[in-house]
Amino acid sequence: MNYYYITGTSRGIGKAFAEHLLENPSNNVIGISREKTIEHLNYRHFFLDLSDAVALTGFKFEPHANAKKIYLINNAGTLGFIKPVGKLEADIIVKNYTLNLIAPSVLTNAFISCYDTADAEKAIVNISSGAGKAPVDGWAVYCASKAAVDMFSRVVDMEQGIRSEHASTSIHKGFKIFSIAPGVVDTQMQDEIRKASKEDFSTLEKFIDYKVNNGLSDPVSVSRKYFRVLENVGNIKEVVFSIKDYD
Ligand SMILES: NC(=O)c1ccc[n+]([C@@H]2O[C@H](COP(=O)([O-])OP(=O)(O)OC[C@H]3O[C@@H](n4cnc5c(N)ncnc54)[C@H](OP(=O)(O)O)[C@@H]3O)[C@@H](O)[C@H]2O)c1
Repeated sequence: MNYYYITGTSRGIGKAFAEHLLENPSNNVIGISREKTIEHLNYRHFFLDLSDAVALTGFKFEPHANAKKIYLINNAGTLGFIKPVGKLEADIIVKNYTLNLIAPSVLTNAFISCYDTADAEKAIVNISSGAGKAPVDGWAVYCASKAAVDMFSRVVDMEQGIRSEHASTSIHKGFKIFSIAPGVVDTQMQDEIRKASKEDFSTLEKFIDYKVNNGLSDPVSVSRKYFRVLENVGNIKEVVFSIKDYD
């Protein structure tokens, strides 16, 4: 059996991902978000607010004896309020970093610790963003957290590489990790972007145009592209890339 832990399965990209995986009866999906919207025999849900550091650090991965694959997909994320720095609320800054950056870091650490000796194919996929590569006004916390997720992923990949160089001392398989941006996808996150005020967000028109001119990808086709990466983890050398470049 295969086990996929996915954060943010209640809607958008995470839900499309989970539903796609559940089409295969060998796959079990463990979803984590504040709401549950999936009912399936092979689906289990943990109600967790990932912006709450105390609740987050209490999350425990479970042993899966004889698993063929065990994956963690850190997908949950938020832009928070779209406003320039100076107009943000301190507690919202803390919550947004916790959800976008601290949750993937804490879960990745717990995942590697829990499955280190498991003889399964093991991978972590962080859903990053083009906003981690170039600044967008009004999105400072989001851009900074996604840039940090990219670097966190590169360091984990480096550590796993160093470990595999000493493979003679380790009989267990290492972990693959990716930080993959999905492009611009038609989800609630984009609805929220279009509701921002022009005064606080200079590129508002561009995002309205994406919707008007059918420039948004749909979550189902995006999740299928990610799935092709998951099918091919052993052959992909890059850690940080955009799913648009993977065809
Ligand atoms: N859509 C895009 O154009 C786009 C572009 C680049 C990157 N991304 C990235 O893609 C990922 C998915 O985004 P999306 O567009 O699918 O967004 P979405 O439709 O807004 O879905 C976000 C998911 O994250 C979960 N989530 C939000 N806050 C949470 C919290 N405090 N605790 C637990 N779960 C929480 C939500 O579940 P609950 O509300 O039920 O908790 C929901 O399932 C994000 O990391 C985002 O940054 C999206």
